Amino acid sequence: MKVAVIGAAGGIGQALALLLKNRLPAGSDLALYDIAPVTPGVAADLSHIPTPVAIKGYCGDDPTPALEGADVVLISAGVARKPGMDRSDLFNVNAGIVKSLAEKIAVVCPQACVGIITNPVNTTVAIAADVLKKAGVYDKRKLFGITTLDVLRSETFVAELKGVSPCDIRVPVIGGHSGVTILPLLSQVEGVSFSEDEVKALTPRIQNAGTEVVEAKAGGGSATLSMGQAACRFGLAMVRALQGEQGVVECAYVEGDGKHTRFFAQPVLLGKDGIEEVMDYGTLSAFEQNALESMLDTLRADITLGEEFAAK
Ligand code: NAD
Ligand code: LMR
Repeated sequence: MKVAVIGAAGGIGQALALLLKNRLPAGSDLALYDIAPVTPGVAADLSHIPTPVAIKGYCGDDPTPALEGADVVLISAGVARKPGMDRSDLFNVNAGIVKSLAEKIAVVCPQACVGIITNPVNTTVAIAADVLKKAGVYDKRKLFGITTLDVLRSETFVAELKGVSPCDIRVPVIGGHSGVTILPLLSQVEGVSFSEDEVKALTPRIQNAGTEVVEAKAGGGSATLSMGQAACRFGLAMVRALQGEQGVVECAYVEGDGKHTRFFAQPVLLGKDGIEEVMDYGTLSAFEQNALESMLDTLRADITLGEEFAAK
């Protein structure tokens, strides 16, 4: 397996590369790419860790050598939020970055599974999809918006609230990755139950957790270390599924049946060719059903913005 991390010199990229260097299966190749000249140095640094994962770093204008032969591409290239900004404020810079990277992927590794971290995820995934489509290589089973951080946060906050081990908690999170579009399905968490007041407090805490980190970092960026962990969890799940492991399920923002919106985060069963099945997310509580209906206009507008940008 070859995994490429794009944006690898950044806060997320470096954390993710460190985790992957330690946790990818023996014999894997890890390629790091970033426009920043430090990137080969980041790879040299990580190469001294004694694990059976080969690592190379590339910088400059052309990601081709990093993308060549990649099975999985994880993209965290782009700018991050500062206090007072919404994720949508990143669109002006990040839309163009994702567009040009998707154009490269379409040529160099169109068969790869691509996970997009770069915000605004609700929109950048639509851009990547339509760029790949225009190039005639779009396979909706292989494009993912990485929403795993919402799952990690939900698991952590639920475990804290209920005084249980986070290792025993699983929380599906559906919708998208910004504000009200993040919908944790607390009614489906096994082994614990919540009062109405708890759901009303915990849901916005999860929805605003990114902002919590942005404010705590006070101008120094957004979540990087927890996102590195989240992207590692998703990337390793992808690799295990591509290698034939059965029953690998993660939530991700993908193009499914379009029941609500063209792209929607929900549990997906991963397999040898990417998504094997976009899974039904089950029965919602009245609170969740109402939250789902209220988010759809926002999510639709985010997606349309991406589609219009890609069409230009
Ligand atoms: P960062 O500024 O630390 O790193 C971004 C890196 O991207 C930099 O090293 C920069 O040189 C590089 N870069 C810029 N343009 C590039 C290009 N064309 N090709 C390759 N590399 C390029 O930012 P960060 O904290 O790592 O965050 C990166 C992105 O991830 C942001 O958009 C942020 O909002 C997003 N993010 C998403 C989630 C999520 O849950 N999906 C969580 C946290 C952050
Ligand atoms: C997050 O959820 O932490 C990321 O989307 C970064 C951000 O801007 O909040």
